[in-house]
Amino acid sequence: MADLTVDAVGPDFASVLFALHRDSFDHPWSEAELTSLMQTGALTLLAAAGEVPVGFIMVRTVLDEAEILTLAVSPARRGCGFGRKLLEAGAESLARSGVVRLSLEVAQDNPAARALYKTSGFEQVGRRKAYYSRPDGDVDALVMQRTLMPGA
Ligand SMILES: CC(C)(COP(=O)(O)OP(=O)(O)OC[C@H]1O[C@@H](n2cnc3c(N)ncnc32)[C@H](O)[C@@H]1OP(=O)(O)O)[C@@H](O)C(=O)NCCC(=O)NCCS
Repeated sequence: MADLTVDAVGPDFASVLFALHRDSFDHPWSEAELTSLMQTGALTLLAAAGEVPVGFIMVRTVLDEAEILTLAVSPARRGCGFGRKLLEAGAESLARSGVVRLSLEVAQDNPAARALYKTSGFEQVGRRKAYYSRPDGDVDALVMQRTLMPGA
């Protein structure tokens, strides 16, 4: 990962983010939706290997609490540490700006993301029944939280 960079990006990168999101989710957000989230203040960090975008994280902050809106790594680049790198870069940036609690929702049938969050210090604090639709039935969302160290 010698040439990995993680940088904050804005609406100019909407098409790049859209391509990454489309490759990771069955119901991708549009460029307009991604743009709107960034215009309303969502922190967006883009990971690139050299010149190639490989993933991004988007986080919304309200006062001293933040929520991960989305996290995606290009399918061909998974399992190389990019997801964890994005998560930690986001957590560090939020902690520096005074955020004390980071939360997220993850589908119960997403073992890769659940393992990432569990090994990154997130704990389950709730469950939203039948939150995600799947072709073969609805799936619960697990609500997870992690406490951030102020100024870390
Ligand atoms: C979840 C996701 C972001 C992980 O990104 P990644 O770059 O592959 O993750 P990393 O390589 O940094 O792996 C971090 C940890 O995740 C877990 N993990 C990653 N892939 C896994 C897999 N296929 N099965 C089980 N655990 C896995 C492991 O705990 C891993 O830690 P380890 O390498 O020390 O064992 C990626 O799989 C993805 O984009 N999925 C589709 C979109 C998505 O589900 N986003 C999350 C929505 S809540």
